[in-house]
Amino acid sequence: MLKDANHGYGELLSEGDRLDLANFIAGGQTDMRKLLALAGRTKPGQSTSDKVYATLCANCHGLDGTRLRQVPPLGDSARQRPYEVLHVALNGHPGGNMPALRTLGEETVANMLAYLQTLPGINLAASIANGGRLYDDWQVHTGGQRQALPHPAYPSHAYYASAASETWRCKECHGWDYKGNQGQYASGNHATGIKGIRAFAGVEPEKIMALLRSNTHLFGAVLKHRDLQDLANFVSYGQIDMDTLIDARTGLSRGDATRGAAHYRTMCAGCHGLEGGFVAKRHAGRVTREDPWHSVHNMMNGHPDDTMPALREIDPKVIIDILAHMQTLQERR
Ligand code: HEC
Ligand code: HEC
Ligand code: HEC
Repeated sequence: MLKDANHGYGELLSEGDRLDLANFIAGGQTDMRKLLALAGRTKPGQSTSDKVYATLCANCHGLDGTRLRQVPPLGDSARQRPYEVLHVALNGHPGGNMPALRTLGEETVANMLAYLQTLPGINLAASIANGGRLYDDWQVHTGGQRQALPHPAYPSHAYYASAASETWRCKECHGWDYKGNQGQYASGNHATGIKGIRAFAGVEPEKIMALLRSNTHLFGAVLKHRDLQDLANFVSYGQIDMDTLIDARTGLSRGDATRGAAHYRTMCAGCHGLEGGFVAKRHAGRVTREDPWHSVHNMMNGHPDDTMPALREIDPKVIIDILAHMQTLQERR
């Protein structure tokens, strides 16, 4: 049947693969509803699934199921797509060397699903901040190769067209203030005419992930599932209105430098130095005066591929007070 006109697998699959499929259909199917019901009756701590998981699965997935970035955290998958997870637990996944549990019996598989459903899901605050770091420069942050050809959506007449990897940064087309051609990048070297992302604040992350995989953006080819998810969470939940923090005309913080000094000295000076002269390639006073929107984005989300703390869960007043203090720091020779 697999070779008939309806299916057309005569050419696509080898005789051996067709035989395996036939054996799966004839002898390998499981009553999935029964299995799901069995999992539903498992009480936490009743089975040894935690130990089976820790020894059989955690090498790849991590003890909390969040290590692999090509799939969602296993806890979320198990809660949201239990049938798929049961199928993968029974059979492994395509192209992979993950162990398949089918010979250990249905109870083991059902208990495993129940255990996976207790694992943590995505941490939204961490996901949003990570999305912000990817928005800054996903190439640096994921440690992958820098793109050699310009992004097809980057206008060929715009200033950075010959700096290929720059044209792939979200911020290069949409701006540090998220306003694209309506904000800081309306004019100057960074102008592209491309609109901002403000209208997508609050939009369902799934829709944003689809947009990032679209032919306009092409990020499905270079980023993993979790990276796209973090970016989508950032776009939907992580944007801020920069105008409430920074005076758009002068570029000065709306905060209080005196109050900010104490925060800066306790939280930032360990890396940046009391006078702002350490760590960064350029002096902290200068960068915060020249491009405060960039600074606030980094302060909210941290820096790509770095351990700098993200302040987004802290009172925004603290952030603008620190920024005000940093803007007063002067270079000394
Ligand atoms: C050798 C490494 C390895 C081991 C060991 C392993 N896995 Fe996996 N697993 C993977 C990889 C890689 C993927 C992602 C496949 C992909 O890209 O679709 C995956 C995917 C999955 C998925 C699908 C997640 C989703 O959202 O699509 C589930 C469920 C899963 N594994 C469960 C388990 C369980 C349960 C165990 C232990 C019995 C286990 N894995 C052991 C490597 C492993
Ligand atoms: C090379 C330029 C370029 C880069 C880089 C880029 N985008 Fe876009 N983006 C566009 C263009 C062009 C549009 C508008 C498409 C349209 O309206 O048809 C757009 C639209 C969007 C929108 C929808 C805005 C709206 O109101 O319609 C979002 C959200 C978005 N991009 C997010 C991102 C994220 C996140 C990244 C980084 C992963 C990114 N973009 C990188 C060019 C770019
Ligand atoms: C663990 C070390 C560390 C700590 C702590 C830290 N930073 Fe950073 N920060 C860095 C590094 C590394 C960079 C990137 C420097 C570079 O690439 O030029 C950076 C960059 C920045 C930038 C962007 C500079 C630019 O090039 O535009 C700002 C703004 C900033 N940090 C502010 C802060 C503030 C505010 C605090 C305290 C709340 C802080 N940092 C704490 C390590 C740190």
